[in-house]
This record gives sequence, structure tokens and C-alpha cells, in this order.
Amino acid sequence: MSQSFAAVILAAGQGTRMKSALPKVLHEIAGLPMLAHVVRAAQRAGASRIVVVVGHGRELVEKDLASRFGGSVTTALQAEQKGTGHATRCAMEGLAGHDGEIVILAGDVPLLESEAIAALVKSKRDAAKSLAVLTARLPDATGYGRMLRDASGSVVGIREHKDASEAERAITEWNTGVYCVDAPFLRESLAKLDTKNAQGELYLTDVVAMAASTGGAASLEWSAQSVAGVNDRAQLADLERTMRLRLANGLAKSGVTVRDPSTTYVGAEVEVAVDAILEPNVHLRGKTKIGAGARIDTGAVLEDVIVHASANVKPYTVAQKSVIGEAAQVGPFSHLRPDSVLGPDVHIGNFVETKKTTLGRGSKANHLAYLGDGVIGEKVNVGAGTIFCNYDGFQKHTTTLEDGCFIGSDSQLVAPLTIGKNAYVGTGTTVTRSVPEDALAISRVKQENKLGYASRLRERMKALAEAAKREKAEAAAKNG
Ligand code: UD1
Ligand code: CA
Repeated sequence: MSQSFAAVILAAGQGTRMKSALPKVLHEIAGLPMLAHVVRAAQRAGASRIVVVVGHGRELVEKDLASRFGGSVTTALQAEQKGTGHATRCAMEGLAGHDGEIVILAGDVPLLESEAIAALVKSKRDAAKSLAVLTARLPDATGYGRMLRDASGSVVGIREHKDASEAERAITEWNTGVYCVDAPFLRESLAKLDTKNAQGELYLTDVVAMAASTGGAASLEWSAQSVAGVNDRAQLADLERTMRLRLANGLAKSGVTVRDPSTTYVGAEVEVAVDAILEPNVHLRGKTKIGAGARIDTGAVLEDVIVHASANVKPYTVAQKSVIGEAAQVGPFSHLRPDSVLGPDVHIGNFVETKKTTLGRGSKANHLAYLGDGVIGEKVNVGAGTIFCNYDGFQKHTTTLEDGCFIGSDSQLVAPLTIGKNAYVGTGTTVTRSVPEDALAISRVKQENKLGYASRLRERMKALAEAAKREKAEAAAKNG
């Protein structure tokens, strides 16, 4: 396709049936607002400019668009919703000077593929008409505008459900609300619209009848599943399911092992490299990237996480905004909080929590630890139950563990401090001062063994228990 086209996305409606404080088009499917899916489809299809018509919840919609697409998407305000024709008129103000084609889309049709848009543009050009409309079929098209055709099969116009006769309501081909129109023709036609219809609105669909009665209108039929709209949250869940399968099957076709596509939750912006394995019930969110050959096991919930090649993320790992190095192992039941950066071959085991902590190549914390605000070198061993005491109630402090040091189990490291290269911290030590390179830090009470003391202790405890029982019985006898 050599020429480019502009796109208009209608998104000013309220979406009453969503019963939500959030504007309808900001409800998410696979981690992206519905409107963002539509914008991305228009961009991928090659739209040169994109204008979104906003109205209800305008501030929120504009903020979301700006954060995702910056200046590449502009908005036009439709202060009062007087119909799809009126909304398109509002958009035209943002497209002054554009004389090419305009593709019109709705913000609540999130499954529409860029291929559908490209095919519609092509069908309009091939037919050499001033307009092409995308249609679909359903045995029962209740609610939709029906396609009216003449005896030869040419499009004559569109009849809205509310305006349709019984015979017209039996028509199974319906208007998806996606069009490609020459801008000059669209401007002329929009100016001629009136409100003589059941809803008293300016119907964009009337532009199709105008094209049909002048040079003729082209049409292209597409899969009903791809052009389904969302009016309530049951439909939202329905489309989410379809999108989930589409994304999971897309990964499977690209060389990822997806054990069970129906329970694999991959966001629209996630990337997964070849030979990665996604076990059932995996959630990959945000801008997560999974490297080649990495395995993500069941129950993992990763948001904005980079997993390098061949890493093994074991069941029920929860991670946000973190990096998991090449061939590293994490989990089961590990929690990587933001800014955890694990180098290659790092091992993080069960019930270990990390936050704003880097670990160098080959370092390990295999069991029950809290590592917050840490800088950990290479080949460091952090024993079970180690805690970085990083917070004094006012400030966060850094714990630095230099290469090769060994932290014995159940130690508390009271930051700020540094454990020097190859140093040892004895089990159960509370470290409050830095430990020099190659030193041993130990702060526990010396052990004493009292021989034969255990049986004496037991006798004493038993006698105490019997006395207590007697006392209770005597008290009961006195009161009863
Ligand atoms: C519209 C079509 C119908 C088609 C259906 C497909 C018209 C008259 N009818 O009907 O033929 O089968 O879509 O889903 O066009 N919007 C605005 N401003 C408005 C009105 C609507 O921005 O004043 C936006 C909505 O937010 C929505 C889109 O336009 O994103 C479609 O509007 P909606 O009210 O859902 O149109 P339908 O009555 O479903
Ligand atoms: Ca609709």
C-alpha cells in the first residue's frame, strides 16, 4: 500500500451498560485499554494520522492516550453525543487539509486486527469507490445496523435496528461500523446528514446510502468474532477470552511452548522468545520479556519483568519491574519487588523477598530471607533466615555484600554496612558494623552444656503441673 490514510476513532459515548466510573474505552483487555488496542491496529495498518473523538470521561481518556502514544494521536471533542455522524463531523476539524482516505473505527471494538483495516482500504481502492464498509454476519444481528442490498447484491444503505421493519431485521449481514471513505466525499456527505430517524441522531450510516446512490459503495465481509463490540462487562470477559487465546496461539505459532493456551494470560505488550516454555496459569503482564529457552512455571505472576535466556522461574514466583539473569533460578514462592536485578546463574529460593537489590553472577539466597536495598557481588551465599534491616523508621540504608562472602543462617545485617570480600558472618549474628575482608563476624552468646540437667528440669516441670491441677480441683470442690 503506497498511499497512507488517516484514522478516526469514535470514543465519546458513555457506555452506560458497563456500570462503571471508568470510561468504557479505558476498560482493559489483555492488559491494554480497548481504545489502545484500536489505536495500535490503526497504526499497524499504516494510518498516517489518528484522531480520537472524546466526550465522556474525556480527561481520563486523553491522559491515557498521551501516556501511551504521546503526540502521535490527537483528540477532538464531541461535547454532546448527537450520534456517530455528529462525532465524525467533530473529528473532521482535526483533519483539516487531509484530502486522502479516512478510516473510521469505534473505540469499543478491541479485537479488530490491523489486517482487517488494511484489507478494507484495499477493497475500496480495488473497487475504485469513494467508500467501503466492513460487514459481518450473525444468525441473529439484533441491535446492529443491517446491510441493505439491491437485487444485484450492491450495497444500497444501512438500516439501524430501531428503524428496521420485521423483514429488514431478518437480514443477517450487519454493519461493523468500520469504514474507509475519501475525505472530500465524507465532508460533503456529513454536511447533508439529518436527524430524521428513530433515535433523532446524526447517523454516520447515512453516508453509506449517499455513496451507494452516487458512485456506489464497496463492502468487505470479515469474521464476526473480530468485530464484536463491548457494551457490558460480560462481553468484556468474552472478548478477553478470545484475545487470550489469540495471543497464546500467536506465541505457540512463533515457537513458544504454551502448555495450555486457555489458561495462559499474556498481555498484549509482552514478548516471548523461541523455545521458552509457559506452563498453565502463568500471568505475564505489562512489558514483560521472556528470553529464549526460559521456563516459566505454573502460577508465576510477572509484571514488567525481563527474564533472560534459559532462566528457570519456578511455580508461584511473583515479580515486578525486575530482571532475572541468564540461567538464573527463582522460586518456588519467591517475591521480587521492583528494581531487583539478578545476574546470571543467581539462585533465589522459596520465601525469599528482594527489593531494590542487585545480585552478581552465581550468588544464592535459597531460603527465607529479606534482601532490601542490597548490593550483592558474585558468588555470595546468603543463608536461610537472613534479614537486611534496611529501614530505621525514617530512612532506607544499603547493605553491601562483597564477592565471595558467606552470611550464616538467621543473621540480621543492620544497614548501612559492608561485608568485605570472602568474609564470614557466623550463624545467628546481629551485624551492626562493617566486616573487613576475610574476617569472621560473630556476636552470639557462648554455648554452655549442663550435663544431666534435662531430666532434672523435666521433674520440676511435672511437679509444677500436678500442683496446678490439684489447686484447680480444690477450688472447684469449694465452689460446687
Ligand atoms: C453503530 C452503527 C450500526 C453498527 C454498530 C456496530 C450508527 C448510526 N450505527 O451503532 O449500524 O451496526 O455501530 O457496532 O452509526 N459515539 C460517539 N459519539 C456519539 C455516538 C457514538 O463517539 O455521539 C461512538 C461510541 O462511543 C462508540 C461508537 O461511536 O464507540 C459507536 O456508537 P454506538 O452508540 O455504540 O453505535 P451503535 O448504536 O451501536
Ligand atoms: Ca455499539
